[in-house]
Amino acid sequence: MSSPQTVELHTPGGVTRIVFEPALPFADLAGAAFDLIVADSNTVALLDRSNGNVVVVVPPGEACKRSRVLVELLAAFAAHRLTRDSVVAAFGGGAVTDLVALAASLYMRGIRVVLVPTSLLAMVDAAIGGKTGIDVGGIKNLVGSFYPATEVRIRSGLITSLSQREYRSGLAEVIKAALLADPHLLELLERNRAAVLARDDAVVARVVRAAVQVKIDVVARDFRETGVRAHLNLGHTFAHALEAAAGLGTWTHGEAVAWGIARAMYLGCEVVSTDRRWLAAYGYAVDPAPVDPAAIVAAMQLDKKRRKGGLRFVLQTGQHTTKVHTAPEAAVLRALQARGGPQGERMV
Ligand code: GLY
Repeated sequence: MSSPQTVELHTPGGVTRIVFEPALPFADLAGAAFDLIVADSNTVALLDRSNGNVVVVVPPGEACKRSRVLVELLAAFAAHRLTRDSVVAAFGGGAVTDLVALAASLYMRGIRVVLVPTSLLAMVDAAIGGKTGIDVGGIKNLVGSFYPATEVRIRSGLITSLSQREYRSGLAEVIKAALLADPHLLELLERNRAAVLARDDAVVARVVRAAVQVKIDVVARDFRETGVRAHLNLGHTFAHALEAAAGLGTWTHGEAVAWGIARAMYLGCEVVSTDRRWLAAYGYAVDPAPVDPAAIVAAMQLDKKRRKGGLRFVLQTGQHTTKVHTAPEAAVLRALQARGGPQGERMV
């Protein structure tokens, strides 16, 4: 068994230790020095509760990112007499880590939080970089804070327990990281598609480590998203709008992100038809979605990245060359309906 590797993410909000651990069983967490562990109704089954750790269970997935659940969680912190030097742990996917980190940032104006992500998406994205949040008024992550976790424990070996759909959802964020900033990761993904999709342990560990490093590098430069961190939203304006317009849960977030990246390529790219092809080779839908384009544009009006000047998109003008553009609605509609087409087509 290999030993853990640790890297530190330094931000103006504090330092996060990111620990890449071997695939330890989840039960070991119960013995750790946490004053309270938050799990969801799926992940709680993996915890050993025999030694009396306080475990609070929240609903799984997006259902936990509600103001009511947040307030109940804060009340549980108080009921269990947590103090300013307490440590809480979040044990679940990105929704759970977002919720618990937000609660930790609010309780007594901030207590320590350790995140143990259980999904690939949370390992490479949600749990890294200090964004916390809940959904309000039907808008994802409308309320949140920037609050770095004290520690994030990445156990890539546990990815074998995910469903294929959940795994591929996280993989889309890995592909995004590669397109944004890591030519070696891109090559690894292009050349090892079968091993990646089969979740070969060694390949997955390398892929996860590299994707996390992309996120660390971006967040270290721009913790509060005043510039380059916005690039992590590549494909996301399209993705969030599709998720909403198609009905939440119809597409997984990652499926929508892969599709959104392909649509963003149509909107702004010069040279990426090759990338679109290999996104398709990973089995993602990249053609126009069977959803009314006008409904997708309407859903974009709720996007947090929208500014008074109009809809904003993260677009690539070449591999690893990323910019934020405001795009007219007509160009967005064309991008939503484009298929095939000449390489080099630009819509904005
Ligand atoms: N998930 C995008 C970010 O952390 O900025």
